[in-house]
Order: sequence, then C-alpha cells, then structure tokens
Amino acid sequence: MTYLGIDIGTSGVKALLIDRNGRTLGEATARSVEPVRPHPGWSEQNPEDWWHATLEAIDALSKAHPTAMAKVRGIGLSGHMHGAVLLDKAHRVLRPAILWNDGRSADDCAMMEAELPSLREIAGNIAMPGFTAPKLHWVRRNEPEIFAQTALVLLPKAYVRLRLSGEAIEDMSDAAGTLWLDVAKRDWSDALLAVTGLARAHMPALAEGSAPAGRLRRALAERWGMTEDVVIAGGAGDNAAAACGIGAIRPGDGFVSLGTSGVLFVSNDRFRPNTAGAVHAFCHAVPNTWHQMGVILSATDSLNWLSKVTGQKQAELSAAAEAAYRGPGEEIFLPYLSGERTPHNNARARGSFVGLSHLSDPASLAAAVMDGVAMAFRDCNRVLADAGTDIGTLLAVGGGSKSALWLRLIATHLDRPLSVPGDGDFGGALGAARLGLCAAEHADPAAVMTMPTIARVVEPDRALSAALTERYARYRALYPAIETARTLG
Ligand code: XUL
Repeated sequence: MTYLGIDIGTSGVKALLIDRNGRTLGEATARSVEPVRPHPGWSEQNPEDWWHATLEAIDALSKAHPTAMAKVRGIGLSGHMHGAVLLDKAHRVLRPAILWNDGRSADDCAMMEAELPSLREIAGNIAMPGFTAPKLHWVRRNEPEIFAQTALVLLPKAYVRLRLSGEAIEDMSDAAGTLWLDVAKRDWSDALLAVTGLARAHMPALAEGSAPAGRLRRALAERWGMTEDVVIAGGAGDNAAAACGIGAIRPGDGFVSLGTSGVLFVSNDRFRPNTAGAVHAFCHAVPNTWHQMGVILSATDSLNWLSKVTGQKQAELSAAAEAAYRGPGEEIFLPYLSGERTPHNNARARGSFVGLSHLSDPASLAAAVMDGVAMAFRDCNRVLADAGTDIGTLLAVGGGSKSALWLRLIATHLDRPLSVPGDGDFGGALGAARLGLCAAEHADPAAVMTMPTIARVVEPDRALSAALTERYARYRALYPAIETARTLG
C-alpha cells in the first residue's frame, strides 16, 4: 500500500508518495500564482489556484508512478496556515483568500481584545493580524455584503479537502491558528466565534491530524488510477506537518525552519501559552500533544528582498557573505519587512538597516541580513524560554538551511547545536503523507514519525558568541528606538 502527502504552499503545491515503511517513492510539484498585494501589507490568493496546482501535481505523480499510485490508501494534507477562505451556502468562493502574511486587520485585533477581555486566555494566543478570526472581523466591517453571504470559513488545506472529498473538516493544528479554537480543550469556542459575528455552523467539523477526515471522491480516485477506498487524514498546518516529517512529536523536540517565514517550533506534552511574548501555542497534529512556535514573517524573504534591490541572485549573495565573513560588521538589519509576529506582534513595524558606511557592500549587507534573521530567532528562543520551555533536539530545515554561515549564526545566537538532516525530503508533504498512513492504517504516530539521519551538527561558534551577544543587545535596543521614530506625530 502507498500514501500520498499534499503540501499546499503559498508558492506551489507538492505531492509526495511513500510506502508503508515511510520510504519516498516519488514526488511532483506545481507552481501557484504568486499572492497579490493590492495594498501595502495585504496578501491575497485565489483558492482556485491551489486546486489547479493540486490537480497538476497529482496528475504528474500518477503519470510518473502509475503502479504505486494505484495502491494509494491514505492521503494527508498540509497547508499554509491562517488563510481565510470565505464560502457561501453553495460552497462558492466569495472573495480571494486573505493570507497568513496579510496585516490589514491590526485594528480589528485591538477591537476583538477589547470586546472579549478573556480572548487571550481562551485562545492561548494574542489576536494577531496573521490569524484568521481578525480577518473575518475586518471583512464584517469593510465588506458587509460579503460577510452576510458567508456560510462557511475554511483554511487553505480544508478548502482543498472540500474539493477532494466534498467534506468540510479541519484538523486541530490548523484550527488552533484561527483564534476561534479553545486550544486547551481542542474544540471551537462559542465566545471566540461570537466576537467575529460567527457561530459553530460557520465552522468545519474538527478532527485530529492523524485520524480519518473524509474520503476521496470516486471520480478523482479514477482519474489517478487509485483502486483502493482512499481515506483522507485530518492533516496539519504546514509547521505541524513539517514536525511530523522530521519526527518532532515528543516533548522538547523542535526545529528551526528557514523558509519564506521563519519558525522556531517545539513540541509540548501540554498546552503552554506565553501571550506576553507573542508565542504561538497551538495543538499538534497528533492527539494529546501541543506545540509552541515563535514566528518571524520574513526569513529567506529578507534575503529575497536584498536580492531584488541589489539585482544579485540569493545564492550569489549568500556565497559572497560566506566568503567575506570575518565576524559581525557595523551593519545591523531588523527583518520586519512584513511587520513582525514574535516577539513584537506589530504588523506595522518595518525593516531597517542601520550602521551603513561607504564600505557597506552586497556581501556585508547579506551577512547583516542573515544575522538579523538569526537575532529574530534569538528573540523567539528568549520568549519560549520565558514560557518555561526546554528545547531538546533542534533540527534545521528549509531553503535557508543550505547556508553554512546562516546556520553558524543561528546556532551561536541560540547557544545550542543544530542538527542538519541528510539529503531527502522532510517538509510538510512528508509529514502529511505520514499522517495519511496513520489515518488509513490506524498506525501509532510515534512509530511512524521517526527522525531522519543527521548529516552534520552545527555547533555554536564560541569565538563569535561574545561579539554576537553584544550585537544582540544593540539589535534589541533598536526596535523601540525605531518604533518611536516611526510613530512620531
Ligand atoms: C505560522 C505561519 C506561517 C505559515 C506559512 O503561524 O503563519 O508559518 O504557515 O506557510
């Protein structure tokens, strides 16, 4: 038997096929249309694009691996979190989805917290514009005619599930990122829903990530040559799915993800909020497990921005920074290009370069960008420690983890070793496939979610730690100073 993982990302969809032993048999990707930014700080995408990319990726996989695809028995879904897909009674999409990196609802967050003073306590999280509920609060105020027609609100991967199976079901890890879930109880909260003028009837049913949550439509099974009755697992938000892919489901297991956004993720045996530090405290994708995250909005996206303004490719910038690096230079970068979640919870914050001189060049700026992102992770680590979290093994994943300098800076700032997995795929698609396997075979997640072979361990660089600690003190002093200047008058 085989199992299919589908990861719905902001930039594309990846489909990955595994066997009963978790071995990867094949994969295929399809690009999505990039999110549009109709106003500064907004970010929207058309749900139909995710569906087309999903069909394209699975069609390609079934063409390349017809025999293995015939044996698919379970499907797992992973998706970018928090996005709001608004559907009417007939399940028609009412407007473009408002995505995780959309900051338009900052005022709505403040209004929601004023309207329901116990919001942080129930949700275990601050109302942040990235989350789903504030987006609906915004729609209710700004697009009342759309709000009035809204019969169902789904997250991105639940929308794809609806198209795959006809059923409206969400898993706990993604549901926790809506701000409508009572995260400790793993159930929708009537009080949280009411703040946005919604009720349980507007929500999908809830399922654990590793449990069955729908069946693939017969017509689609036939299109892909699948002969079995195919179960769809609850699945997971992309970060919890990535954790399943690298086996981070025991308390203290964690990872640093250097993707478009940056995440410091740790699994917990119980619900551990720290709203003061803007920690995300969510359900994990396996039962009775939770996780915390510090989330920074622009990780590799910061280098991506530098690449656009310098006209040099990211790989070139990264190599130049690596070759020229002799310790921290004068430049300091604050990576708040899309505002920031952890630890500031400030959608209006903006990025900064300070300490520029005539000697500043693309290599020194790239090193400063990497160091700025590493310091944002150090902030995340600090607030997780404030929540009493003890991090055990920390793996490094994501596109940015290919840079040795970036990993050295992060390991040194966090003052802990980073384990780098050997070649292979450990992202959300693998985690999703593993969840599909659990749901179809009633398998024990602890036996399925194993850790990959570690290729190397990046140790903190003792020769750099004093200089980086001093630099981190400057970095922390800059945010309030720059905010004071930004908000003058
Ligand atoms: C997590 C978050 C991002 C998205 C990116 O809270 O917003 O990691 O899930 O896909």
